[in-house]
Amino acid sequence: MDSKESMESREAKDSIKSQVEGLLGSRPRQARHLLAVLQDIQAAFRYLPKEALLMVSEKLEVSAARVFAVAGFYKALSFSPKAERLLTVCQGTACHLRGSEKLIQTLESRLGFKIGQSSTDGRLGLETVNCLGACALAPVATVDGAVHGHLTPEKALDLI
Ligand code: FES
Repeated sequence: MDSKESMESREAKDSIKSQVEGLLGSRPRQARHLLAVLQDIQAAFRYLPKEALLMVSEKLEVSAARVFAVAGFYKALSFSPKAERLLTVCQGTACHLRGSEKLIQTLESRLGFKIGQSSTDGRLGLETVNCLGACALAPVATVDGAVHGHLTPEKALDLI
């Protein structure tokens, strides 16, 4: 790493620390707020930077092991940047019976990346879920949390 990269890296870390300090200021500094703080950080950065997790450990007086364990437990939290937009296809029984596999195959084929991955520009991610609780609308997918039902492969592609 040359000195320019080193300086940029230091500036990035300082920026993360400054933003996390601001986020921590909006909640009581108590261990019971750990998950809420992690959700705030996830929303701000689209992932949980290591520096942020170490800061949370120190400020909330929670062991780093626990902070990393909680961060790794929840699917909504991520150690690497999530895509700006997220398309989630339901793979529950009702959706499976009504063609969710064909939706997934079409999306993977047309988008050029697999479930669990993101586009190279980081704009779109694909995930699956087991049931969205909207089985009557099967097959179902969400885009950034908004539910879309009775999907065909073509309709699913039109969502993005
Ligand atoms: S199985 Fe897909 S919404 Fe329930």
